[in-house]
Amino acid sequence: MTPPPVDWNRRHLLDLERLSAAEITALLDTAQWMKDATGGCRNKLSLLSGMTCANLFFENSTRTRNSFSLAARRLGADTVEFSSGGSSVAKGETFVDTAKTIEAMGVDWVVTRHSTPGTPHLLARELRCRVLNAGDGAHEHPTQGLLDMLTIRQHRGRIEGLTVALVGDIAHSRTARSNLWGLRKLGAHVIVCGPATLVSPRWEELGIEVAHDLDAILDRCDVLNLLRIQFERQSTPSFPSIHEYALRYAMNGRRMRRSKPDILIMAPGPINRGVEITPEVADGPQSVILDQVTNGIAVRMAALWLLAQGTGEET
Ligand code: NCD
Repeated sequence: MTPPPVDWNRRHLLDLERLSAAEITALLDTAQWMKDATGGCRNKLSLLSGMTCANLFFENSTRTRNSFSLAARRLGADTVEFSSGGSSVAKGETFVDTAKTIEAMGVDWVVTRHSTPGTPHLLARELRCRVLNAGDGAHEHPTQGLLDMLTIRQHRGRIEGLTVALVGDIAHSRTARSNLWGLRKLGAHVIVCGPATLVSPRWEELGIEVAHDLDAILDRCDVLNLLRIQFERQSTPSFPSIHEYALRYAMNGRRMRRSKPDILIMAPGPINRGVEITPEVADGPQSVILDQVTNGIAVRMAALWLLAQGTGEET
């Protein structure tokens, strides 16, 4: 049993900006197949046994790292776990040399997360194996964008024509950027909403709606994706206090009552309860946050599978 053939020929998954709508749909269709074929990502398939996936993470991660590992193992592949803390990076080895060293252990895919934008693109040029971007600075996080879209599609049956608001720290969010590209290509109306210090008016040039008042857009939204404030990427505070941010942008019970009754509440995690979302909303009936986590495994299984099939030489 193998996934149905789809329109895909790439060896690397670096960002959603360069993918076509057909390629994004191919990834989502294959992810749905993976989820269904594994009883909701719980059972193993032996589609990629004998292959090896290395996680090269130079930044913290809970969801993404474990999800990639499980995805590889659900497909029968082996995994190698690398963390920059305690490695030879501390002895002065370059990023590329570290990656080449891991690759030389017989690795077929490198999954990389790094605080510098473009590092996966660099590895795709320097390595012979396949490269997947698990987050490069504030640039992109393509599998996060895909798992968010898969979750919307499962609950709504489509992406096209829906109004999706990304709320919060758009300026520093790679999740926002991957969602923006992917959702636009699949025909959603996208709103970016947050304080003016974190939401640039220039997004309008790409046909994206820019809003600074959540209460003013709420009744039009089919989906809200609530992004964490990335304090670790901000040198000066972007608003006077967390309390002020929460008053204006936290999704809470009062705002839920003013929203469409079937609104989907999403968050890439980690969530900061009481900042961008209150516990009653995070744990409430419209929240699909844990579905997103399960779908992450399906999306990463699909990505590993499709890249293993791809022969294109593009980077
Ligand atoms: C995000 C990340 O690290 O980019 N989390 C994730 O991968 N699920 C978002 C965040 O850190 O807020």
